[in-house]
Amino acid sequence: MINSSLDKRLLSCADYVRAGAVFADIGTDHGYLPLFLLKSGRIERAYLSDVNPGPLSSAEHNVRAEGFSDKCEFILTDGARALAGKGITDYAICGMGGELISRIIEDAPHLRASGIRLILQPMTKQEHLRRYLASVGFCVIDERFSEDSGKYYVTLLAEYTGECRDISDGEAELGAEVTHERDRVEYLGFLDGKLKAARKALNGKKAGGYDTSADEETIARIEERIAANK
Ligand SMILES: C[S@@+](CC[C@H](N)C(=O)[O-])C[C@H]1O[C@@H](n2cnc3c(N)ncnc32)[C@H](O)[C@@H]1O
Repeated sequence: MINSSLDKRLLSCADYVRAGAVFADIGTDHGYLPLFLLKSGRIERAYLSDVNPGPLSSAEHNVRAEGFSDKCEFILTDGARALAGKGITDYAICGMGGELISRIIEDAPHLRASGIRLILQPMTKQEHLRRYLASVGFCVIDERFSEDSGKYYVTLLAEYTGECRDISDGEAELGAEVTHERDRVEYLGFLDGKLKAARKALNGKKAGGYDTSADEETIARIEERIAANK
């Protein structure tokens, strides 16, 4: 594990980047993640891309200020399609919604290749992203949970296997059915947030006289996960 001033959410993404990787950060914004990896010596070169010119020039400014301009390429583009053919091994697509991350992967067929790592950090709709990945043949090989300023985040490490599958509601909403030894506290915090949201939804439906059986199932699933990880 590498140490630094990165926030804990981005640190959990950085930890998945392999030493010596050819790295690309899609939606780089300020360029904090590639800069951290370059400064730590984990990687030698990085591609920084963003669909918006403002964030990309902010990244360019930060990289120049730290003296890494000769190790970086800046690409103004939507998603990852324009990064094909550059020998990139590790892609980060972080800090976006799960639907947008899914769309970016869908639009870049070159990501469906063995040896490529996708480091994905959905801010919302992680269940959509997990379902999408499984349905098109990506396998989530590891996942981390992190907490920063009272908010909980999930980071997925995915690789293409070509084995397409449907996943259960529990796996889509709560991740793989494993105990999270490393991030137990963060995972329990994440589950607690899910539980509160599910109870709120149930109470709202009850008050309106609607069917709550699906919400009750969701709550039972979350409670089971909490019990298994305590
Ligand atoms: C909230 S920031 C996240 C920055 C950084 N990746 C992180 O996790 O802290 C989202 C960034 O993604 C960029 N972005 C949004 N849609 C994009 C797309 N389709 N392709 C590339 N970048 C995109 C935005 O311009 C913005 O800079």
